[in-house]
Amino acid sequence: MEVIIQRDADAASLLAARVIESELRANPRLVLGLATGRTMERVYAHLTRMHREEKLNFARCRTFNLDEYIGISPDDPRSYHFFMRRHLFNRVSIPARNTRLPDGTARDLPSAARRYEKLIRRAGGIDLQLLGIGRAGHIGFNEPLSALMSRTREKALTPMTQRQNAPMFGGDPRRVPARAITVGVGTILESRRCLLVATGAEKAAILAKAVEGPITSMITASALQLHPRCTVIVDEAAAKKLKGKTYYRWLFENEPDWAAFR
Ligand code: F6R
Repeated sequence: MEVIIQRDADAASLLAARVIESELRANPRLVLGLATGRTMERVYAHLTRMHREEKLNFARCRTFNLDEYIGISPDDPRSYHFFMRRHLFNRVSIPARNTRLPDGTARDLPSAARRYEKLIRRAGGIDLQLLGIGRAGHIGFNEPLSALMSRTREKALTPMTQRQNAPMFGGDPRRVPARAITVGVGTILESRRCLLVATGAEKAAILAKAVEGPITSMITASALQLHPRCTVIVDEAAAKKLKGKTYYRWLFENEPDWAAFR
């Protein structure tokens, strides 16, 4: 794992977008794992601008999102399907057939989940998995106690996650769906590369536990410590409680792989 600390949320999002850009330019048929949420809005805004101004081409890449609420239709403005069209897909002219999200309206959720895993495998696996971290320490909707070898499945959302996501539901956590379908921690760990972005002071405590604490299913983001190629990009506010900051900064400054990004 490597941790890169940037001045503010915009710089962190730009660096994340630059990493995605360099992978996509190197491999136009990249298989991208995508996330939703407020952190990603900034990252997608940068990718959209790169598409518009710097000819970043998404036409041949394929995408798999991490999660979707159960019982919310893809046309509902609160769905993650809608979020992705609004913040990325419609703006970078990526063919709809190249984009996939778990189906939260499937009658048979276990078989929809198995199908999703199969689709990822058939695409050759995820090359680059973009991740945020929830206040409950989740990646995707892998809430506390999710098995670290879990696959795509239905999951109950914790009250903390319902509170975090309440703004999309009129500010009322009770209106946030209680369940979601999410790619598993095991599925995420099979991606060739992981890129976690965390910004803002409200992520500082959970981020420090995920990066520097023990690996535990109570904080599923901590499983990323096992991943052979995981980059964590944070702003100063989210980095506040990290003990190893000086070391992480030194690594970033001295690592030849990052020379083009400094
Ligand atoms: C959503 C997802 C979640 C979010 C996390 C952070 O698709 O995968 O794990 O990344 O809840 O959300 P924000 O960025 O809204 O704080």
